[in-house]
Amino acid sequence: RTGGGETAKRHAGERAAEAIDDGDVVGLGTGSTAAHAIRALGRRVDAGLDVTGVATSFQSRELAREVGVPLTTLDEAGNVDIAIDGADQFDQETGALIKGGGAAHAREKVVDASADRFLVVADPTKVARGLDASVPIEVLPAARRPVGTEIDALGGEPTLRRAERKDGPVVTDNGNLVLDCAFGALANPGALAADLASIPGVVAHGLFVDLADAVLVGTDEDVERYDY
Ligand code: A5P
Repeated sequence: RTGGGETAKRHAGERAAEAIDDGDVVGLGTGSTAAHAIRALGRRVDAGLDVTGVATSFQSRELAREVGVPLTTLDEAGNVDIAIDGADQFDQETGALIKGGGAAHAREKVVDASADRFLVVADPTKVARGLDASVPIEVLPAARRPVGTEIDALGGEPTLRRAERKDGPVVTDNGNLVLDCAFGALANPGALAADLASIPGVVAHGLFVDLADAVLVGTDEDVERYDY
């Protein structure tokens, strides 16, 4: 997936990588903007920085290997000092996010939520006043229909995410399906997040409420920073 200015994404990623300290365990996010941060982190490792990364997806693990960021796991590390991850939409008032455009939000949420500091990297197309994008929901394959019924009862319209280069659905890194759920403008993202999390068969929804500590929005020149 591309979109948004590549220069803006690179600026956000590079600035975020500058925030990493020697000895940090770093959560490695997914998507094209987080990829810039991982590449920049690789260059810092080349220059002598001592860090280990916790990948949030197949994609971020592969990229970390390619650019020489040593990897660990949550089991091994126990604690993440700082996570850097992208977003599909963020509310500039509250810092609430919608994630999961890359179907990686289940592991992203585990890593991002366990980090002492969670830095979001984004391009200007992600900035919003309030949230209104569809909410990706990872579901157990066997729970697709009952979860869909519950989403419907909450006022959402679920659509099974289909693969672009395969006949059939997107299957996540965890072997599950994704329902993209259109709710329109979200009046209360925190309440919706709690409702979605309580549906049996939902592995993870893409609402990240009260998790981001800061969002770095890349511009053609540098970054704009929002703190929460
Ligand atoms: C992955 O599932 C998402 O949560 C990504 O973090 C998101 O899609 C951001 O991707 P881009 O930086 O490519 O827009």
